[in-house]
Order: sequence, then C-alpha cells, then structure tokens
Amino acid sequence: MDLSGALLAWYDVHARVLPWRVAPGDRRAGQRPDPYRVWLSEVMLQQTTVAAVKAYFHRFTARWPDVAALAGAEDAAVMAEWAGLGYYARARNLLKCARAVVTGHGGQFPHSREGLLTLPGIGPYTAAAIAAIAHDEPAVVVDGNVERVMARLHDIHTPLPKAKAALTARAAALTPAARPGDYAQAVMDLGATICTPKNPACGICPWRAPCAARAAGTAADLPKKTPKQAKPVRHGIAYVVQRADGAWLLETRPDRGLLGGMLGWPTTDWSAAPDPAPPIPADWHDPGAEVRHTFTHFHLRLSLRLARAPLDAVPDRGQFRPRDGFVPSDLPTVMRKVHDLAHAAFQAL
Ligand code: ADE
Repeated sequence: MDLSGALLAWYDVHARVLPWRVAPGDRRAGQRPDPYRVWLSEVMLQQTTVAAVKAYFHRFTARWPDVAALAGAEDAAVMAEWAGLGYYARARNLLKCARAVVTGHGGQFPHSREGLLTLPGIGPYTAAAIAAIAHDEPAVVVDGNVERVMARLHDIHTPLPKAKAALTARAAALTPAARPGDYAQAVMDLGATICTPKNPACGICPWRAPCAARAAGTAADLPKKTPKQAKPVRHGIAYVVQRADGAWLLETRPDRGLLGGMLGWPTTDWSAAPDPAPPIPADWHDPGAEVRHTFTHFHLRLSLRLARAPLDAVPDRGQFRPRDGFVPSDLPTVMRKVHDLAHAAFQAL
C-alpha cells in the first residue's frame, strides 16, 4: 500500500471524534461536512489547541447555527463570546467573513482554495483546509503538525522557518487524489496523537516503516527550529473604577491593535514608559499588585490602580456598566486577570 493509503487505513480506525468532523465511515456513506462548521473550527484552531477550542465551538454553533445567523450578530456579542480564546483579530475577521459570504456569495462558502483566499481572515492554510475538508479538493494542507510529520518522515534537518518550502513540497507530493479531506485530517491527527512534539509514539505509528527519522533515531529532535528572539517586557497601568451602585468603568478598545474591539479596563499605552492618564479624577489606590500576561511578541506587566466613584461621576473615557450588565467571561484573558486581582483588592480597600 502507498503512504497515503496506509495513513487513511489508520485514520479509518483511529480518527479523533471532534464536534466539527464527519467521521470517516459517515463520509464514505455520503455524509458531507457543513462548510460553516469547518470554517469556524479552522479559524478557532489557528494557534489554539483542540482542547481549548471545543467549548467555544459548541457555544458559537448553539448561538449562531449557520453563517447567516453569525453575519447578523452584533459585533460586541461575537467579541464577548470569543473572549479568552486570544488572537482577537480572528474574531473581527470572522464577522467580516460571515458578512462577505452572505452579501457577496449568496450565503455559500466558495469551494476552491482561490475563492476562499479572497475572504477576510482566510489565509493559505485555512483556505486549503476548508477546500480539502469541506469540499474534498486535493489542496495541500500544512500546519505545524504536518510540518513536524514531514520533517520526521523525510529526516529533514533544515530548521524552521527556512524549511517551510521543502516541507510543503513533501506534503504536496503525498497528498492523494482520493479522499483528500480525510487525508488532511489524518495527517493532523497523526501529528496530534502519535507524531507528537515530545515522546513520539513511533512503535504504533502507521508510518513507522518508511519513517527516515525513526531509522536514524532523530525523530524526537525534529523539526529543528531557529531560536526565537527573547520577548521584550512592556509596562502599563490598568485603572479599575467601581461606582457607588456597583457599576464598573469599562472601555471597548479601538478596532485596531492587539485586543482590538475587545472590552476591557481603561489602561495606559503599553510601552517601556507608559504615559499615565487616569480615565477619571479620583482618589487612586495602588494595591501594589501586578498582572503578568504573555502575548506572542512581548510580556506585559500591568500595575493596578483602584478607585471608587460617586453616582454622578462622569468619566473621560469608557462607560459605566451596571453590575449585572457584564460578566468577567466577556473579557480577554489579560483583562480577566485584572478583574480577579482588583476584585480581591477591593475587598481589602
Ligand atoms: N487542527 C487544525 N485543524 C484540524 C482538523 N481539522 N483536525 C484535526 N486537527 C486540526
């Protein structure tokens, strides 16, 4: 049997059960995946683990069961539902894409990789994954799992990211004309469950015989990676204000930038030397506590300032939200950390 055939035979038995997936047996029986669910899952899975995505996927599809429903959602509702998943540009583009599919494509996702690439938030990886999984186009799907599997199968020692083109060429050479959707998911499952970054389970791998890294004893050392630059540390101040009726002062951040469009506490800019600009004149209290959060390109340290405000307070920035008009799970993780610390500090105030 050829390599893709051996992997598909393994997948027929060992495919993970995932909420957006049509099992290989059902697919063979003619069941087609819903492109909306495939698209939503692939956007959520960018830089995020399956374990973290599952609960978000269930909530999104329960609330917005199809692309038309999502296109009609309020921006703030989608951003709040995405809170905690990170990489918030994905959520902004998700809405733009849903609206583009409804207004420009009659509510149907394009079938081809090229058509999908024209939509907001859909890059080469996601376009290939949707084309293959939802429409069985023989697109070459390469994510981090696939890169690792290819580097090992062919014992490629060139470090990433330089090796990307070579690894993609290897992946392309293996992609079969038959069952490309199952094949794409099979390589990802192999990478996630057997050909894992640490302690790969080579003994039970369907590709153990042809694997060049297994023969050379190098599997666990691959793929090689060019060391990343150390992340700089940025600083800022988060201002947490509670009004006499329990309302919190919150701000929707501007659409651009790291937490663009997300709800949060007013903060200074995040820089080496932030410019302190409190959102309201008040008797500020410094609890001496700091929130630490790591983003892709830097570590952030936010110190806190707390204040109570009278009922008639008028802030320069943000809006008071009644206590029952906001839940901490509407906040991105760094803002949630501020909430939890401030909540405790207010008790001691
Ligand atoms: N990771 C990203 N997309 C995936 C998929 N469709 N199946 C398994 N793992 C994935």
